[in-house]
Parts: sequence; C-alpha cells; structure tokens
Amino acid sequence: MKNLVEEIEALKKERDAVILSHFYTPESIQNISDYVGDSYYLSRLAKELPQQTIVFCGVTFMAESAKILSPQKTVLLPDLTADCPMAHMATKEKIKAARDAYDDLAVVCYINSTSEIKEDVDVCVTSSNALKIIGNLPQKNIYFIPDQNLGAYLASQIPQKNFILNDGYCHVHQAFSVDSVKKAKEKAPLAKVLVHPEAPMAVLSMADYIGSTGGIIDYATKSDKNSFIVLTEEGILTQLKKNNPHKEFLTAQKEQICPDMKKITLEKIKAVLEDELIGVQVLDQVRAGAVKALDRMLELAE
Ligand code: 13P
Ligand code: SF4
Repeated sequence: MKNLVEEIEALKKERDAVILSHFYTPESIQNISDYVGDSYYLSRLAKELPQQTIVFCGVTFMAESAKILSPQKTVLLPDLTADCPMAHMATKEKIKAARDAYDDLAVVCYINSTSEIKEDVDVCVTSSNALKIIGNLPQKNIYFIPDQNLGAYLASQIPQKNFILNDGYCHVHQAFSVDSVKKAKEKAPLAKVLVHPEAPMAVLSMADYIGSTGGIIDYATKSDKNSFIVLTEEGILTQLKKNNPHKEFLTAQKEQICPDMKKITLEKIKAVLEDELIGVQVLDQVRAGAVKALDRMLELAE
C-alpha cells in the first residue's frame, strides 16, 4: 500500500502537476514540493513552468496571482480559506481619493492584496523587488498599499520619493517588538539579526539584514557568521536549516506563526489532486485589470 507522499507523487504524474510552496508552509509540505520560494520567485515560476496544473501551497493572493498570470492553467489551492488578512486592508475608495488628491502619483501595490485591488493599481511589487521597481518609477508621489510597515521601510530607503502610506499590516510581523529582539540578543550576543520588512520600523532599526524570505535565506547561507536571530514566520527555518546544517537559527518570540499558511496539509494536497477540481477562479473582468499590474512587476523587476 502506498503512503500519503507516494500517493501525491503518483497523482502529480497522472495530472502533470507541479507543487509550488511558500517558505512559510509546514515542513512536511516543503519536503514534497517541486519548488519552494518567496512570493516573487513563485509568481515567476507559475508563469514560466510548462505544467498545466499548479498546486499552490500558500495563501489566496498567491494562487490568484498565479491564475492571473497564467489563465490557461489550473491553479489548485489546497485550502480555499488560507487567506492573508493584510490582503484585505486596502480599499478602492482610498485609491480613488489618493488619485484625486495627488498629481504625478503611482499606486504601488504589495502583491499581498486581493485581485480586485490589483485591478486599480499601477504596479505590483514584492519585498524582493520593491526597492528596484519604485526607485525607477517616473512618478514623485507613491501611494503604497496595503502594508504600512513595508511602506515606511521603502520610504526610508528611497528618500527622493514622497510616500503616502495606508494603514494595513501583517499581524505576524506586527507582533515583533524591540524588547523581544533585545532579549534574544542578550542570549546570543554574536547572532546577526535578520528581519522581514513587514516588521515595524523600530524592529527594523535593530536588523543586520532586512529582506524578503528568499533574501534572508541567501544572506544567512552566504554569511561567514554562524548564529542568526530570525524575525519572520518560522516556516522559513526549514530551508535555513536545510541549507546551513552547521549554523544556529534562533527566533525572538515563542510563536512566529502565520495560521493561514499552516492550513496546508498533505491530506488536502492529495484531495485537490484527486478531485479534478477546476481550481482558483478570477473573473475575466478583474483579471484584465490585475494582469497589467503583475506583468508590469515582472517586466520592471528584470
Ligand atoms: P516574501 O515575498 O518575502 O516571501 O513574503 C511574503 C509574505 O507573505 C511575508 O509575510
Ligand atoms: Fe499574510 Fe502575514 Fe501570513 Fe504573510 S505572514 S501571508 S503577510 S498574514
């Protein structure tokens, strides 16, 4: 009798499917994935890979972005309730108000946003390409949505632009505090502090490195240092440890968990592959608007 992993392997072959997973998914999921990466890498792969069925182990905005970029493909999200709360923290009304209030404005949207919001924006970014893309935009004024922390960080790095910030945030990264970093540093004074830019500015100011999940893994892997305090969702530890078995990775808080990413299970992957589902759907009209912002991201991030 086949075990669960063997059953998934067989179904994957049968359906010519590929499994893409974000670094925050559980270890059991990352271990059976064809590719594990950050949001930018995964969205590029979703467009470029030849397989016509993608099992996207992540949250709704990631699977919808894959569908928008490759409408002919079937994109299966193993749990349709796996959603990023921050993706819902921008509004069309506020975008319109910003456009009315400012000339020479670009609406720049973090990929962690709904497809309906992406319809109304000029370009999408992820934390691995935002500095490059925004730095090269011709507009002086940048309305950055939905994440206020990433927006504030980008504003500090691109002082020639005038940033208008929204009030969205990620509840996982918002929970990091200066105090928790101080305590972690007391226990490991030589450790380098690696922080995702969704964390508050006060925490970012204590970082030795700030970057996307993929950036954090690259930095730790290339570093000649041996000890790191990691301030992002703890699923990232799977690849950090795999790539660097002799280095030490510490967290600053007891629980650094995104509950939505943890909804993905092997049983649910098997079920979506078995059930011949049509997968994630995005209305044609919504897709027509949203694809421009995502394609522009891929073009400007090159
Ligand atoms: P990355 O683009 O760095 O993978 O971040 C995605 C995310 O959801 C962070 O909370
Ligand atoms: Fe969204 Fe935060 Fe989870 Fe990332 S970690 S998917 S931003 S809730």
